[in-house]
Amino acid sequence: MFPLSGAFRTPGVATFPGVDNFENPSRSGDKRYFLETYGCQMNEYDSALVAELLAERGYSRTEDPGGADLILVNTCSVREKAEETALEKLRSIAHHRRRNPSVRMGVLGCMAENRRESILERIPEVDILLGPDHYDRLGQVLDEHAPVRKLTTALGPDIAQTYEGLFAAPPAGTTAFVAVQRGCDMKCSYCIVPTTRGPERSRPLRDVVEETRRLVHKGVVEVMLLGQTVNAYSADDGTFAELLVALDKIPGLRRVRFMSPHPRYFTEPLCRTMAGLPTVCRHIHIPLQSGSSRVLRSMRRQYSRDQFLRIVERLRTHMPDVSFTTDIIAGYPGETEAEHRETLSLMEEVKFDTAYMFAYSPRPGTLSADMQETISEPEKQARLAEIIELQRKHTYERLDSCVGNVEEILLEGASRRNGEEWIGKTTHFRKVVVHPGSDAKPGQILRARITARRGQILWGEIA
Ligand code: 5AD
Ligand code: SF4
Repeated sequence: MFPLSGAFRTPGVATFPGVDNFENPSRSGDKRYFLETYGCQMNEYDSALVAELLAERGYSRTEDPGGADLILVNTCSVREKAEETALEKLRSIAHHRRRNPSVRMGVLGCMAENRRESILERIPEVDILLGPDHYDRLGQVLDEHAPVRKLTTALGPDIAQTYEGLFAAPPAGTTAFVAVQRGCDMKCSYCIVPTTRGPERSRPLRDVVEETRRLVHKGVVEVMLLGQTVNAYSADDGTFAELLVALDKIPGLRRVRFMSPHPRYFTEPLCRTMAGLPTVCRHIHIPLQSGSSRVLRSMRRQYSRDQFLRIVERLRTHMPDVSFTTDIIAGYPGETEAEHRETLSLMEEVKFDTAYMFAYSPRPGTLSADMQETISEPEKQARLAEIIELQRKHTYERLDSCVGNVEEILLEGASRRNGEEWIGKTTHFRKVVVHPGSDAKPGQILRARITARRGQILWGEIA
């Protein structure tokens, strides 16, 4: 899953529903909460669940931690840097908790699971630690807390937890995240997520459809289905392909995306189903991690270089204009220079639209954390830089190849700099700036001819 960009975020018309752009809960009370989110889209979605829960209890949101009765930080453990950033934030706002004894401070998410001890040691002001399967305890925790301070923790996976019946706060924009699966059963050697988020479980199909219907009723036209291996979705009442079919039938829903799939679950029947559904976008985020079969085996990714390439081919056969984005890790323990070159050559073969590229970060508790790190930090950074440089070239090539095409653009919002310029996206997940005129509304789909590329953004004229 990749981080969200915010270049064109405008209040009320967001690219994606982040915590900073939920619909302002109308049920405002006199209690206020501050909520900051780090990490992936799943965390953003979970924060929207928490926002809904707090709105139901009469809390309204504030951007100012100094004015909050409840300070929450939803955290990520996927790389050390993400953890350090969240700890830094917690440290910088802890004085609000010290100054006002009635304020409560909580850590949510993966770090609550993974870094309990060091959080409490470094930020003793923390009152609440809730892991990803325990957000529904928040209400009870708040009642218990007044007026005496006590530490409350709810941690560890709860395999039964799918937050059935709880729907996330709707976004202010026209695109919404919908979690369809929680946890992960893969055992990728480098990844902490199975530890922090527990085993895989799928939400009932009927709940996902119901949540999506409600979102569409509120003006959402595009959903991004979320799961750690989302295309392995399998609920009692349906498979992933059946879910896509069911969503395609919802009147008013124009686009369906999903993230992150695992390459091995792109079966022939799933690809065929996707190709036949007009709502399913022609963009697949397909995490690669490495182009070397030996490294992939060591990572326990369950596919080889050739198998990955065959899956890409299969998707392209069914959807010839599909675009791909990916995740790549540089400097995995034991990765040789030749194996690093295999990643570069695979990138040349596929030509991803974009990639989310990371230096390997050992996570205590994962399989690879026990492997000797063989790549020095400068070498890791040098390999990463090479990957980034090649990807930049491919990104430009892919975008340049669109100039002259007529594309359907889903309008997201006006640019902050110039109200006449709107940002929208093609089905391929490419950003396009257009001048749609004064009647433009977020969520509208317009046809535009692509006229130019500037940096990583396309420009178009309404056709
Ligand atoms: N080090 C570096 N990158 C990692 N990712 C997951 N774990 C690690 C790690 N230990 C990357 C993977 C994954 C993305 C969400 O984060 O590329 O797909
Ligand atoms: Fe999301 Fe993984 Fe980070 Fe947890 S560790 S927040 S699941 S990216």
